[in-house]
Amino acid sequence: MNTFSFWLPTKIVFERGGLEKGLRLAAGIGHSAFIVCGKNFASGSGLLNRITRVLSETRVTWTTFAQIKPEPDIENVEEGFSLYQRSGGDMILAVGGGSALDAGKAIAVLATNGGKLRDYFGVDKFGRKPLPVVAVPTTCGTGSEVTQYAVIVDRQAETKRTISSESIIPELAILDSDLLKTLPPLLVAATAMDAFSHAVESFLAVKANWLSRSFSLASLNALLKAIPQAVTEKEREKFKEIAFYGSMMAGLALNQTGTILIHGMGYVLTIFYGLHHGTANALLMPAVLKFLKAKGLEREVNEIESLWRGEDGLRKLLREIGLPLCLREIGGKPEDISDLVRLSEICCQRAVRNMGVKPTEEDYAEIWKALL
Ligand SMILES: [Fe+2]
Repeated sequence: MNTFSFWLPTKIVFERGGLEKGLRLAAGIGHSAFIVCGKNFASGSGLLNRITRVLSETRVTWTTFAQIKPEPDIENVEEGFSLYQRSGGDMILAVGGGSALDAGKAIAVLATNGGKLRDYFGVDKFGRKPLPVVAVPTTCGTGSEVTQYAVIVDRQAETKRTISSESIIPELAILDSDLLKTLPPLLVAATAMDAFSHAVESFLAVKANWLSRSFSLASLNALLKAIPQAVTEKEREKFKEIAFYGSMMAGLALNQTGTILIHGMGYVLTIFYGLHHGTANALLMPAVLKFLKAKGLEREVNEIESLWRGEDGLRKLLREIGLPLCLREIGGKPEDISDLVRLSEICCQRAVRNMGVKPTEEDYAEIWKALL
């Protein structure tokens, strides 16, 4: 518990309205940016124009790959890499939610190591240092701007897989909460609950330590203060900024420990029903915490649950911010259970390693049934 090593190479610029100021620092990292973002938000909102204006002022050239899908798969990342091979670039500028940030990190690995993305899943599976990454998050959930993980969907293996290495931790993270202004309330709710889940799972992971738990608790306190006001209140910008901070702090916690069962089973919901990552984690959280309590983690779960008045408090919060509480609300049926159990065994392998509890097939079935 009191063993840790902490290293964070990320310069964090956390400033409302600080996008341009942060981007000027990118010129000290590279001269040619490969911009990775989704199809809509960055170009549609004018954000991409603001970014390229600063790049131009600071004499940084750029190429844009604005084709990252929500929940990017291997093919999507390799498509980006193929454009990179034609355009070149000496840094990745990843703009968006977790999907764009993680895809950007994965392209950074391919850019210097070549080959196929499948070769690099796991811990430190590549020889050459990836391109430096500048991360500009536009949701309050990912935390990827300060982590060593890139999570990518492998459709063939029916799971999400992770590239993990300290060398993909972004060099610069620009957190300008003004970028969250147009984020729809339901996405604020879903992404903030992803961050909430990072903080909770990190707290319960086997590698949790004094430092990571301090980050988890700071994150949970910020998120509980910000949610649901960030979703519902008129003055929500102020609360979104607090949620953004909570999300980054959860990333710092997560970076030490990895995620556990909520994320593992959450991948199943995303792969099977196409459910949003954060919504999936939120839906699973009450049932998984109950399971972990029964499996020896009662003291730890109680400690964090006291922050939100236990299972009932959590359900109330989720209802208040408009997220689903059961599988039926997302179209789940009793006959889906066997597929969900089968996929859980595939998707939770990393979660099991990170949490010190190994659910049986019956355990998975029970959790899924309880969620119906
Ligand atoms: Fe997540």
